[in-house]
Amino acid sequence: MDAQNVVALAYLVAALFFINALRGLSKHETAQSGNTSGVIGMAIALIATVWLALDSDPARGIAATLILILLAIAIGAVIGLRLAKKVGMTEMPELIALLHSFVGLAAVLVGYNTFLTSVGGSGSYHTFLMGEIFLGVFIGSVTFTGSIIAYLKLSAKMKSKALLLPGRNWLNLLAIIVSVGLMAWFMNTNTTGAGLIPLLLMTIISLLLGLHLVAAIGGGDMPVVVSMLNSYSGWAAAAAGFMLENDLLIITGALVGSSGAFLSYIMCKAMNRSFISVILGGFGATTSSGEARDYGTHTETTASQVAQLLAEAKKVVITPGYGMAVAQAQYPVADLTKRLIDSGVDVTFGIHPVAGRLPGHMNVLLAEAKVAYDIVHELDEINDEFSDVDVVLVIGANDTVNPAAEEPGSPIEGMPVLRVWEAKNVVVFKRSMGNAGYAGVENPLFFEDNTDMLLGDAKASVDAINTELSVTAK
Ligand code: TAP
Repeated sequence: MDAQNVVALAYLVAALFFINALRGLSKHETAQSGNTSGVIGMAIALIATVWLALDSDPARGIAATLILILLAIAIGAVIGLRLAKKVGMTEMPELIALLHSFVGLAAVLVGYNTFLTSVGGSGSYHTFLMGEIFLGVFIGSVTFTGSIIAYLKLSAKMKSKALLLPGRNWLNLLAIIVSVGLMAWFMNTNTTGAGLIPLLLMTIISLLLGLHLVAAIGGGDMPVVVSMLNSYSGWAAAAAGFMLENDLLIITGALVGSSGAFLSYIMCKAMNRSFISVILGGFGATTSSGEARDYGTHTETTASQVAQLLAEAKKVVITPGYGMAVAQAQYPVADLTKRLIDSGVDVTFGIHPVAGRLPGHMNVLLAEAKVAYDIVHELDEINDEFSDVDVVLVIGANDTVNPAAEEPGSPIEGMPVLRVWEAKNVVVFKRSMGNAGYAGVENPLFFEDNTDMLLGDAKASVDAINTELSVTAK
C-alpha cells in the first residue's frame, strides 16, 4: 500500500474518532471520553498529515520538509501556550471568535493560492474548481470579518448594541445578488488577470457583508451569532478541504459546520427567536419606552441575613450566571450546596441555556466544582416550580432572570427567562446597582418586594455565607 492510501485510511479512522467525540460531548457523563476520542483522532490526523507532507514533495527533501513543519508547529505552540496560560474561562468566547476569524482567513488564502496555481485549465472539472474557489473565498471572507466583529463585541471593545443601517436587509440581498453575478463571470474566465477582477470584487463585498451581518445583531442574540460563526468556520474549512483535495478537512469542516448550525437552531429555539430573524439582525436595538423607568428602591441584605434565610428554608434553587464565572464562585457555591443538602434542604440548580458567555458555560463550571449532575436542571424542567421555592439565590445572573423579557417592546422581549420572582424570597448577588446585564437592559427584579440585593463579589459573598452557616452549626 502506498503512502497516499495509508493516509486516506488514517483520515477515515480519525474522522470516526471525531464523530465519536461529538457523540460523547453531547452528555455530561460521556464528555470526558468524548474529549479523549477527539484527542486520539487529532493525533492520528496529525501523524498522517506529516507523513503525507514528507511523501508529497521528494524534490524538496525530507529534512527541509521536516524543518518547515517543525517550525510551523513551534510557532503555533508558542502562541497557543501563551494564550492558554493568559486567557481566563470568561474570555473563552472572544478567543473562540478570534480563532474562527483565522479559519475564515485561511480559507480565503487557500482560495487565492488555488486560483493562482490552477488558472488556465478547461473542462467541467476546472469550472467546478473555480466554483469551489469562489464559494470558499466568499464563506471565508464573511467568516473572517464577522468573527472579528463578534470578537470586538464579546470583549467589550465595541458596543454590543445592534448597528441598524437604513434598508439593511436590502443591502445584504444586494451583496448576495451581486456576488452570484460575479461568480458567473469568474467561472467563465481562464486567465489570471480576467479572473482576479471578479474574485477581488467579491472578496471586498463579502468582507463588508460579514462585518454588516454581525454588527446588526444586538446584545442578547450574540450567543446565536457565536454558534453561527462556528458553523460558517466549519463550512469555510470544508471549502478549503475541497480546494486542497483533503478528505479529512472536508469531513471535519462538515462536522463543525453542521453541528454549529444545529447548535444555532437549538439556541434560537431556547431564545424564542426565528433563525432567519437573528441572522438578519435588529434584535436588541429597541428600547421599551425610550426613557429610563423608575422601578422604585431596592433592598440590601447581608451574608448573615442570607445565612439565616437559608437555615430556615426547605427548598432552595440556585440560578447562576456570568457573574459566577467572573468571580470563580463555583467552588464556594458547591460547598454551600453540600452544606445545605447535608442539613436536609432540597437544593437544585436552574440553568438558562444562554447563561454565561458560552453554550454550557454554567454546566462546565458546576461540573468542575463537582456538583452532582442530577440536581442541575434546565430552564424548562424548573420554570414551573419557583412558586414552591423558599429561597432563590441568583448568583451573578441578570438577563436570564429579567422579567422585562415578558414586557412588550423590551429589547429582550420573548426571550424565555427563569421566573425566579415567583419564589418566596430572592437574593441577587452582584457587585453594584450601577451595571446592567449583557443586553444592557434594566432589571425590575432587583426592585421587587421579595428581592434582596447582596452586593459584592459573588465568591466573597458565598464564602461569607458559608462561614456564617458553619459558625451557627457549631
Ligand atoms: P449577564 O446578563 O451577563 O449579567 C451578569 C451579572 O453578573 C451582572 O448582574 C453583573 O453585575 C454580575 N457580576 C459580574 N461580575 C460579578 C462578580 N464578580 N460578582 C458578582 N456578580 C458579578 O449574565 P447572564 O444572566 O448569565 O446572561 C448571559 C447574557 O450573555 C445573555 O444576555 C446572553 O444572551 C449573553 N451571551 C451569552 C452567550 C452564551 S452562549 N451563553 C454568549 C454571548 C452572550 P455587576 O457587574 O454589578 O457585578
